[in-house]
Amino acid sequence: MSAFPEHLDVEAIRADFPVLARTVRNANPLIYLDSGATSQKPAAVLDAEREFYERHNSAAHRGTHLLGEEATDVYEGARAKVAAFIGAEAGEVVFTKNATEAINLVAYAMSNAASVPGAGRFRVLPGDEILITEMEHHANLVPWQQLSERTGAILRWLTVTPDGRLDLENLDRMITGRTKIVAVTHQSNVTGTVPPVAEIARTAHEKGALVLADAAQSVPHQPVDVATLGVDFLAFSSHKMLGPYGIGVLFGRAELLAAIPPFLTGGSMIETVRMEGSTFLPPPQRFEPGVPPAAEAAGLAAAVDYLSGLGMSRVAAHEESLTAHALDALREINGVRVLGPDTTKDRGGAVAFEVQGVHPHDVGQVLDELGIAVRTGHHCAWPLHRTLGVQASTRASFYVYNIHAEVDALAEGIRYAQRFFGARQ
Ligand SMILES: Cc1ncc(COP(=O)(O)O)c(C=O)c1O
Repeated sequence: MSAFPEHLDVEAIRADFPVLARTVRNANPLIYLDSGATSQKPAAVLDAEREFYERHNSAAHRGTHLLGEEATDVYEGARAKVAAFIGAEAGEVVFTKNATEAINLVAYAMSNAASVPGAGRFRVLPGDEILITEMEHHANLVPWQQLSERTGAILRWLTVTPDGRLDLENLDRMITGRTKIVAVTHQSNVTGTVPPVAEIARTAHEKGALVLADAAQSVPHQPVDVATLGVDFLAFSSHKMLGPYGIGVLFGRAELLAAIPPFLTGGSMIETVRMEGSTFLPPPQRFEPGVPPAAEAAGLAAAVDYLSGLGMSRVAAHEESLTAHALDALREINGVRVLGPDTTKDRGGAVAFEVQGVHPHDVGQVLDELGIAVRTGHHCAWPLHRTLGVQASTRASFYVYNIHAEVDALAEGIRYAQRFFGARQ
């Protein structure tokens, strides 16, 4: 580790990520500033998946043979590890395909609750309300639009201030006695804004509403404890936190998971099956139909170990210093507007910006020619872009392996793009 124990040893970290050794366009070294879309994977994660396939590969929770037992141990071990990482019990962690599926699971369970005795708290009736925000990724927006269409519930949303914060002035009025669920991001993938989820959860609970936090951009980047947040459900994806694709997490409070009906059905989630009907296993298995993604779980467990070894507070501090540097560097470029908060207070390391007079796709292409990978477009947050007055933006997002020199290269690249396209500087 570093000579300064409070700092990450980024040089050592970079050596753990094989992809960072490669060159990209024009033989430039790779500057990967797109971790908000998906993170790179350390060798430990790749090794864990490979080891699973080489030594233990078989169907978890199905085989009675040794390999089957080992696969089950790997899968359930990963569940326990993920649970500890977010301050939950193992039985409160459901493995899904990704954050998107985790959110859909709750939204579909709510409409499926219509016919289930004992699931009254989840039942959504015409005229009930669902509260989301304008800041949401489509993954935490479209499923709630669909739930409102299926049930006749009214979709309402909190708006965003011009500096990219949630407008909470009317929070108390927006959550009513008819609000069934409040679904809010814990860190915006565009502006980096970190809304006060614990405060929102308190107000929601006072009015009897459930609370789901979309933690796809927070669990990878800051310490997250579900009890401190006080949420009922939390969704995130492995692939954004150094882990493999194909596995995500839904945390649900134990008594809530026990009360909700399944979303996807089939093998592995049933208790008994007759031709006339079936009964289901208790959670979390009730929500995990099909052969489980045990190799992916092994990779995710290795990612959790890796992040825990670094320490999530140090991860957050490292990203804060990169974000501060980026905000300073972009502020100095005429014709560049950062979307969202211009300080690091309650803000994570996603920095979306507009370069006046240059289309984001052109900015992205010029940066790519220099070896700098950023995301361009609406980043699956179209309504938020409209509110902030742009169709699209360029986004740099940081993680444990990024260094300040890469932020400088980004700023230099933006200046180059401005010159290249004759934009005002
Ligand atoms: C804030 C946020 N929520 C949800 C998602 C969806 O994640 P996934 O595509 O892994 O399901 C993303 C992905 O970009 C995101 O940034």
